[in-house]
Amino acid sequence: MFRRFRQNRIDEKTRRIHRETTLSIADFILPLFIVEGTGICEELNSMPEVYHLSVDQIEPYLRPLIEAGLETLLLFGVPSEKGIEQAWDQNGVVQQAIRSIKENFSDLGVICDVCICSFTQSGHCHVGDNDKTIEILSQIALSYAESGADAVAPSDMMDGRVLYMRKVLDAAAFSTPIISYAAKFASGFYGPFRSAADCAPQEGDRKGYQMDFCNGNEAQEEIFTDIEEGAAGIIVKPAMTYLDVVNRAKQSSENRYPIIAYNVSGEYMLLRNGVDNGIIADSVIWESLIAMKRAGSDRIISYFVPWFIRNQERFL
Ligand code: PBG
Repeated sequence: MFRRFRQNRIDEKTRRIHRETTLSIADFILPLFIVEGTGICEELNSMPEVYHLSVDQIEPYLRPLIEAGLETLLLFGVPSEKGIEQAWDQNGVVQQAIRSIKENFSDLGVICDVCICSFTQSGHCHVGDNDKTIEILSQIALSYAESGADAVAPSDMMDGRVLYMRKVLDAAAFSTPIISYAAKFASGFYGPFRSAADCAPQEGDRKGYQMDFCNGNEAQEEIFTDIEEGAAGIIVKPAMTYLDVVNRAKQSSENRYPIIAYNVSGEYMLLRNGVDNGIIADSVIWESLIAMKRAGSDRIISYFVPWFIRNQERFL
């Protein structure tokens, strides 16, 4: 006797009954790039359908996405001039953005990426010294918490930053959760982001602090360490070519904390170019997002949110 699997696939309504994984807008976190100035809503050359927004343009940009159910954002600040002091300034571009978003959309979840690579002359995520850097990052995280951020997400890959940041936030009586980029790899897939966030390293690369992409066991150690240090959730980045890491993280978490996959800029652009140039059908976008969820991602950070909103009915 052989098993008749095909009877479960006979037509779409039958396939739906047996479907194990689906997607909804609540699965997604949308990255936003905030710039100084007013009246700026400029599509990026490096990434179609991704914008530089000035604070006053956030509300009109977000309104339709929120009406479609978007629940959570991830904010990146892109200052006009370099200088790390701006990163913890209460009138910095991210701090202003948080306050404005909270005024307009009080229910929207706002996560702030915490890093200095858009603020340093060097374009690196540190100031040369690990322990000095984690003090700076903690100052930045505190100023985001003070402005009303719902969570802070350190993406620098310095050692000990979650422990130090938790201490600084607690000392100031902020319970703001830390969602750490625990397993962030030194990846070529960040290329388009670096022009969007103006954070390409002037010299060298990030291999001295971001993880070697050959290492899956070490990713587990990084994740456990960040959880021990006080992280409330962890991010694996990139996503598409790191689903083994996502899956191990999910299995070993025993569902005690959320696993978030970051579907990064290079992944977005590869699929986008393939689809826009007629090389491949856009169902591959759905397929790859489903794969992230099937692997164990509780949430997905993705530039595909507007695409998802427009196209979900075709795939559900
Ligand atoms: C900065 C940061 C990067 C990304 C998110 N935060 C770039 C990098 O580490 O070089 C990449 C995101 C993307 O590619 O979409 N620390």
